[in-house]
Amino acid sequence: MTFFSYKNGEMHAEGVALATIAAQVGTPFYCYSAGALRAAWKEFADHLKGMNAEVCYAMKANSSLAVVRLFGELGAGSDIVSIGEMRRALAAGIPARRIIYSGVGKKPSELMAALEAGVGQINVESSYELETLNAVAGQLGVKADITIRVNPDVDAKTHAKITTGRKGNKFGVDIDLAREAYALAGKLPNLNVVGVAMHIGSQLTSLDPYRDAIVRVRELVTQLRADGHKIDRFDIGGGLGIVYAQEKPPAIADFLAMVARETAGLGCALTFEPGRRLVGEAGVLVSEVILVKPGAAKTFVIVDAAMNDLIRPTLYEAWHDILPVRERPQAATIRCDIVGPICESGDYLAQDRDMAPLAAGDLIMIRSAGAYGAVMASTYNTRPLAPEVMVDGTRFAVTRPRPSIDELLSAERFVPWQEPVKS
Ligand code: LLP
Repeated sequence: MTFFSYKNGEMHAEGVALATIAAQVGTPFYCYSAGALRAAWKEFADHLKGMNAEVCYAMKANSSLAVVRLFGELGAGSDIVSIGEMRRALAAGIPARRIIYSGVGKKPSELMAALEAGVGQINVESSYELETLNAVAGQLGVKADITIRVNPDVDAKTHAKITTGRKGNKFGVDIDLAREAYALAGKLPNLNVVGVAMHIGSQLTSLDPYRDAIVRVRELVTQLRADGHKIDRFDIGGGLGIVYAQEKPPAIADFLAMVARETAGLGCALTFEPGRRLVGEAGVLVSEVILVKPGAAKTFVIVDAAMNDLIRPTLYEAWHDILPVRERPQAATIRCDIVGPICESGDYLAQDRDMAPLAAGDLIMIRSAGAYGAVMASTYNTRPLAPEVMVDGTRFAVTRPRPSIDELLSAERFVPWQEPVKS
């Protein structure tokens, strides 16, 4: 089902025209479709039926309280990487025991906060962290349920900046050193080993690296059990890709069937940590054309969204489809760069893109922006964060209003020894 489509020549999110939202909220803004979020969740949930498995939404992809709550109501747990995300998950109603705490560098104070809140599982990424967590749990007089995140050294065949399961990546415990780490965990009195975890990368469009990694970790599980450890859970991580351009990511059904096949007989409960696949295609960024600037070499369409709003194009050379909000089916295309107003040449949303001609005041929609869009935004150039809007059927609500510039300024202080500003 498509949740963003033209109706009478106007792009709609479900039953709401994007132009209507733009008129009320201003541009740029992020728009999420509740229907699309539910549909993505349902695809996972439907195919998990009968499996001993749970889904902990990787909220780093989109940590909007409204989005996290929607998934929570559907039965999701949450994969977090910071205490800030933990607070969001709890505020959105995710029970603490359904929270998994991942991350390569957790501070003692953060581990303490997570244990105090009662998170269900901590995925430990080093021997140092095992020792630290053991000490912190001891201080609190609790036992921490942990897995060790293993780095299985497979090539996820994705962008270098989002591959995580190779030997050269900072993540997890090298699979060759995993038995030693488990031996240490087994000796530490305040840790309770419950399983094993992996996450090999993001925007994966092939099942092969997953399969290779699962096979390696499966062998490790057998060894660990022979070593006397109780390995009841296998956390597969996230990483399933979505469509940005012409990708053909695996169907969720095929992915889950493969995981079920490869883990059959292992007797482990499975955990999945999807982020992008649940939210990516459910969100768009809407922007208005400020001006069109024909150059000697290129035509620049300068819009009011910029790299601070969506950094993926410049950070990962990522392609995001861009469509005019008012349909232009017959128009001949021109080749242009779609760029923001920020003072950097890296400030682009698309380069050398063939688009129907655009003019000042036209609205555009940047697709597949629901994951790693708003969450990676900054206020660079003192540009307030773009608001977030949720559409559900024919209703819409602003879930994060655009901050005023006064709000941005009032969060800061002059040093006390500076002269007060004279008005
Ligand atoms: N679990 C762990 C431990 C992770 O590190 C991640 C993502 C996920 C789950 C969720 O992965 P997903 O299902 O969303 O692929 N900013 C980048 C993506 C960074 C992903 C980081 N880790 C981008 O915009 O492409």
